[in-house]
Amino acid sequence: MKNYQFLNPIILPNGVQIKNRVVLAPMTEQMAFQDGTVSLEEINYMQQRAGGVGLLITPVAYINKEGKGFEGQLGVDDDHKIAGLSKLAFAIKSRGAKAILQIFSAGRMTNSHITRGLKPVSASAIAAPRNGAECPRELSQDEVVNTIKDFAEATRRAIAAGFDGIELHGANTYLLQQFVSPHSNRRTDQWGGSLEKRLFFPMTVINEVLKVKEKFATPEFIVGYRLSPEEMEEPGISLDDTKYFIDKLQQTDIDYIHVSMGNVWRTSMRDQSDSVPIIKQLRKVSSKKPLIAVGSIRTPEQAEDVMNSEIDFIALGHQLIIEPNWVEKVASGQEDSIRYQLHAADLDDLGVKPPFLEFIRDMPGFDILGLDYADNREIVKVTYL
Ligand SMILES: Cc1cc2nc3c(=O)[nH]c(=O)nc-3n(C[C@H](O)[C@H](O)[C@H](O)COP(=O)(O)O)c2cc1C
Repeated sequence: MKNYQFLNPIILPNGVQIKNRVVLAPMTEQMAFQDGTVSLEEINYMQQRAGGVGLLITPVAYINKEGKGFEGQLGVDDDHKIAGLSKLAFAIKSRGAKAILQIFSAGRMTNSHITRGLKPVSASAIAAPRNGAECPRELSQDEVVNTIKDFAEATRRAIAAGFDGIELHGANTYLLQQFVSPHSNRRTDQWGGSLEKRLFFPMTVINEVLKVKEKFATPEFIVGYRLSPEEMEEPGISLDDTKYFIDKLQQTDIDYIHVSMGNVWRTSMRDQSDSVPIIKQLRKVSSKKPLIAVGSIRTPEQAEDVMNSEIDFIALGHQLIIEPNWVEKVASGQEDSIRYQLHAADLDDLGVKPPFLEFIRDMPGFDILGLDYADNREIVKVTYL
């Protein structure tokens, strides 16, 4: 058995010890009921993956009805959801992982079918540059303030439900990122304009969330922030913008920064002459806050490579769908039995239900495309390595 660094514990800035550095990446699995209430299937799916990892980040939950981004998505938008969410938090914690509820508003990255008739909202009335994207409505000043309250209220509910923390989903082009982006934020009031002003929304959300923590939780409650370091849109968020943002995050009381990328070693999309992996550049900027890196990490060796760059945590997405016991197998020297291929015969066992399978199949860049489950007795060959 090898002494992998990622199996070592780590202490967060708030003093909480996390048993190891492996994180379940947040992954929407579309298993909630249509009103956003958690289902037993979803609880079982999460619990199955909570035995080995130090931190388990749930699929993203919407903070208000117009912020719902997917069918079958978990909601944290009203107090009636607390009972179900507390079952989810308990199930995760009972297996030893810290339970982190990821929260967001999808902003312009949804449509009025998913929101059941509500027009999507954003910083400005600019549609995402995607085929078929609905043009959102610009949030009024009062609505911006109310949306910030919705983030705070969602945090209060996460605390009431017994979660160990929340993660603000400021990545992957959703509302928090839409305020930072010069593409989606064309406002001329205090919420838009210069980079500093575009950061005012996420910074205010963070401050309000931290106030809720102070009022309703103990210092052990974990607050993380997930961001995408760049975006393709023109004009769009640059790596320098993100470095500036991370510098500001150093001065807050959050406990970690989660850098969302499809490949952990990705270099700049916007500046092709820059060959230094983004994660290494951000490590230098984030001197005070632990970093979570993610993206195409499958094997223990790949995970250890990331640790060698002094990154604090590695998050696994695809790999923990396929192999819920990845950490346990590595820790007990059974690496040879780690699954790297998804077999149709295992889908039930893995808790992957039909809507989730559909979701995965439609996802660009997901290797499972081509999966033929019409006859689910057939072995599905998907190569990940
Ligand atoms: C099915 C699926 C659902 C996802 N849902 C979320 C989500 O709810 N929140 C989020 O921040 N990222 C989400 N992601 C992105 C993952 O957290 C992760 O960053 C990405 O899959 C890259 O890591 P991997 O290569 O280890 O899978 C999702 C990814 C997948 C494949």
